[in-house]
Amino acid sequence: MTKLLKLTDVNLNYNTDNNLINVLQDVSFEVDYKETISVVGESGSGKTSLIMLIGGLEKVSSGKIKFKNFEISSLKEDEISEIRRKDIGIVFQSFYLIPNYTAIENVSLALEINKIKDPINKAKEILDKFGLGKRLNNLPSQLSGGEQQRVAIARSIVMKPELILADEPTGNLDSENSELISNILFDYVKEENASLIMVTHDNKLANLSKRIIKIKDGKIE
Ligand SMILES: Nc1ncnc2c1ncn2[C@@H]1O[C@H](COP(=O)(O)OP(=O)(O)OP(=O)(O)O)[C@@H](O)[C@H]1O
Ligand SMILES: [Mg+2]
Repeated sequence: MTKLLKLTDVNLNYNTDNNLINVLQDVSFEVDYKETISVVGESGSGKTSLIMLIGGLEKVSSGKIKFKNFEISSLKEDEISEIRRKDIGIVFQSFYLIPNYTAIENVSLALEINKIKDPINKAKEILDKFGLGKRLNNLPSQLSGGEQQRVAIARSIVMKPELILADEPTGNLDSENSELISNILFDYVKEENASLIMVTHDNKLANLSKRIIKIKDGKIE
């Protein structure tokens, strides 16, 4: 069976002050359909960089990233955005909601961009499911951290992506909210047969994934 995702000898370099930093070094791994993976490693080891590359938000310096039949590393910007809009959902530690849009508008926007019918009702449905039925018209600044993260996750999964990339999705949350968020993520991948790649510093959370990938100084251990 083909893999959902395949990284081959991926390198990422940054050039700062005429200094070449090799942030990721010959990273290769594969992700199966329906697989859940936790990415762990020290601060600065390259975890966020890895998520950015897979999500096409950053370009590889060398190597290949293949998502389904697409060679992410060689696609044009608009082709990558199309994949990201529909097939890859990204969840960040700091939620990146649109500040002047309400909870329901933040979610329905993702549907409108993809020309999905009835975006408001579909957004309402998923926010209801996430326990936010009474917070639909709150702006992000009027929501708690856990609530904002639930809105952000609703927004990133409302198109039912096949892959979720989550970069410390519970990093800013207390243990009760962390559990809520991890339940939402793991329930989603189970219900929708999706895959999850999640960066986390939380061992308990990391252990919920089928596989753990450890990064050290830009290399997989
Ligand atoms: N735009 C950039 N230009 C230069 N160096 C960068 C840039 N972005 C990241 N780096 C460097 O790349 C390395 C990896 O950064 P990255 O954000 O991937 O780490 P991380 O594993 O996610 O760390 P943390 O756990 O603290 O979030 C760091 O040493 C960082 O300083
Ligand atoms: Mg990081």
